[in-house]
Amino acid sequence: PPIFSLGYHQCRWNYRDEADVYAVHAKFEELDYPYDVLWLDIEHTDGKRYFTWDSNTFPHPVEMQKTLSDQGRRMVTIVDPHIKRDDNYYIHKEATAKGLYVKDRIGSKDYDGWCWPGSSSYLDFTSEHVRSWWADQFAYDRYAGSTPSLFTWNDMNEPSVFNGPEVSMQKDLRNLAGVEHREWHNLYGLLFQGATASGLVRRNAGGNVRPFVLSRSFFAGSQKYGAIWTGDNKAEWSHLAAAAPMLLSLNVGALSFVGADVGGFFGDPDAELMTRWMQAGSYQPFFRGHAHHDSKRREPWMFGEETMIRLRKAAIARYALLPFWYTVFYDAWQTGMPVMRTMWMQYPRTEELFPVDDQYLIGSDLLVKPIAAPGVTETSILFPSSDTWYDVDTLQVISAQGKADGVVSMKVASNIDKIPVYQRGGSVIPRKLRLRRSSRLMKSDPYTLYVALDSDQAAEGILYMDDEETFEHERNASFGIAKFVASFEGGDSFIYNKVTLGAGWADQAVGERMLERIVVMGVKKRPKQIQLVGSASIDFEFDATANVAVLKKPGVNVLSDWKLRILY
Ligand code: NOJ
Repeated sequence: PPIFSLGYHQCRWNYRDEADVYAVHAKFEELDYPYDVLWLDIEHTDGKRYFTWDSNTFPHPVEMQKTLSDQGRRMVTIVDPHIKRDDNYYIHKEATAKGLYVKDRIGSKDYDGWCWPGSSSYLDFTSEHVRSWWADQFAYDRYAGSTPSLFTWNDMNEPSVFNGPEVSMQKDLRNLAGVEHREWHNLYGLLFQGATASGLVRRNAGGNVRPFVLSRSFFAGSQKYGAIWTGDNKAEWSHLAAAAPMLLSLNVGALSFVGADVGGFFGDPDAELMTRWMQAGSYQPFFRGHAHHDSKRREPWMFGEETMIRLRKAAIARYALLPFWYTVFYDAWQTGMPVMRTMWMQYPRTEELFPVDDQYLIGSDLLVKPIAAPGVTETSILFPSSDTWYDVDTLQVISAQGKADGVVSMKVASNIDKIPVYQRGGSVIPRKLRLRRSSRLMKSDPYTLYVALDSDQAAEGILYMDDEETFEHERNASFGIAKFVASFEGGDSFIYNKVTLGAGWADQAVGERMLERIVVMGVKKRPKQIQLVGSASIDFEFDATANVAVLKKPGVNVLSDWKLRILY
């Protein structure tokens, strides 16, 4: 995914008009509250005719997108697969004239079903020809009012038909090749999302910008095209609790970029539920707040100052970890390993972890336990005992390495200010700690490395980097991978970096990728000195109670090889 799509998304059915959009955007700005994308649901259109704008409420869509984009934000509009049967609607006119719709059971007439716009027809996405035509509709001169900072939400693509059996199409309808709906029902959403994603690629000359498309319906392979969300949940604790297991199931099925509506779609979360949901969402792959039109406004500042600060803190934690999320997604792309991982997948010999679905890992190195009940002040966590675990807030060991293939159950304090998250000993996690209002503004910010030592005083981790938005990493091998290793040899500790630069990224932007700090957890005693091998000694602080050393301004960047020596 382009990195912006890993940031926070603010959605609602509906942001009413341009003034509403500007007001919400301005409030995020004023509060220094990071977010990347503002979403528009079906009401932004002219009568649910997708690819159009309501000219009363959204008369200046280009200006609106430009204003947000100038401040580092993107927008998303919803584009559903049902097409309003209106002879004056250009999409319907052309789809009818070209014969692009799913047919009735006889195969002679265009199928007519009921959805948001009323009487609607459905494009036959099983046809390659139709998919290509659809992709062309995203061209800037076809989709009036769209700009390069506008991306897409594909909803109702099961496909939803309000007056059909099981709210979908009759099983005996025919596609253009004469095949019955029962044969392709499960593929419809996948093919629709895929066609939309190609449209977003095609609209830019050279097709070099990565698309972003969110879809409700999916199938094996949907992970190639974008993100998935779990649909219409409720603002209830049980629905927050269900989110993690649902997202883990999807991840087991290789769909990594998934999320649940933060806050719960139907109903009104109170401040506590909203807080816990935002905290959970900030540690789940697709992170979007969304709400039904009958629910009260619930932008992060609607619950009072104290709650806003907590929600913002969760968002800030998310943004700090964007380099890590991006690296874990890189790993998923390379290996297929899920981003949000069940405990058993990482510890397949530990039987106690087989039934666990209320805590999970991000990649292999961060353990997360979302709090999904009211009034919680402490929670139990099962720590795999073959590793040491560090609390990411206190940086202290919470559970030390013990026997292989076992677990240690620990009660940890988790009042409303605490998101229980732990780093695995033996790992290195990169963060960017400067507070910015969007991912774009963080691009050339310096990194901080969190080195969590294992019981051998060793650790290792990678950081994947590219331009965060184009296909240059694939086309011209324009990427860099830093591999950080910590080891203990002959009485001293070492931390070194070994960089792999893709052919297209030799030297470019190296200077922009500075390292401003290294935090080392689990250091046994106060170091006498820390040196950059072959150069100067480095300033550091040591906290003897927490066993944490903080190396300040090491004067190196993450895209060159270096070696640090810690002398005791
Ligand atoms: C159903 C979707 O699940 C929901 O998220 C959306 O707000 C409505 N359709 C309206 O588009």
